[in-house]
Amino acid sequence: MSVLTNITLKVWRQDGPDGQGRFESHQVPEISEEASLLEMLDIVNERLVEEGREAIVFDHDCREGICGTCSLMIDGQAHGPTKGAATCQVHMRVFSSGDEIVLEPWRADGFPLVKDLMVDRSAFDRIVEAGGFITSPTGGAPDANLIPIPKPVSDASMDAAACIGCGACVAACPNGAASLFTSAKLAHLNLLPQGQSEREKRTEAMVEMMDDHFGSCTNHGECESACPKEISIDNIALMNSDYLTSKFKNRKKLAR
Ligand code: FES
Repeated sequence: MSVLTNITLKVWRQDGPDGQGRFESHQVPEISEEASLLEMLDIVNERLVEEGREAIVFDHDCREGICGTCSLMIDGQAHGPTKGAATCQVHMRVFSSGDEIVLEPWRADGFPLVKDLMVDRSAFDRIVEAGGFITSPTGGAPDANLIPIPKPVSDASMDAAACIGCGACVAACPNGAASLFTSAKLAHLNLLPQGQSEREKRTEAMVEMMDDHFGSCTNHGECESACPKEISIDNIALMNSDYLTSKFKNRKKLAR
């Protein structure tokens, strides 16, 4: 097992949303390259607590790339240097002895800072809530083959459903836009037969809630590169097209 030595951590510390933020340096004399970056933060925090100092606040839960809770800018990159991986899946082996690692929170107006490296991502919950429900008949589950869905369509829907709502797309976007997140949440329902009944209502409500909290997409594509689930920006094109159709159809419904 190889060991990295002499790592310097530069960590963003901020007491609260209105506090004055600053970088704080911490030395990590030795760490196994098998350790994850979050395990290294755990070790730093244990040391801080032993010294009677405040631990660094950061978000995490599953530590398996599933829940989307972890969220760090690592050396200026959302989720760091490992392609297709969340912060919790970044291991120390991607760094070298003597490296300085800079850790910052997501920086976006839609995600106000809570403390240190933790931000409030509840604006994502409001977008999902705006989507409402899908109509589904009660009774026993129908046979799967009663609703034929072309394989490329079900694949596209499942790929969109892989979104873990971590917010890296927003953090990476120079406009702080949430188009990749919102479009993924829309696509996984809008592509399937089961999502058709409320398609227009859902699309209009979710896009307008997104616009209330986040910036506008201008096709930089940073979101796709930062996404730990490698969600395609093709979903944004689908969302934009669905939104235009929704505005037209929903207005016609109101006029009736
Ligand atoms: S802690 Fe769950 S995805 Fe990272």
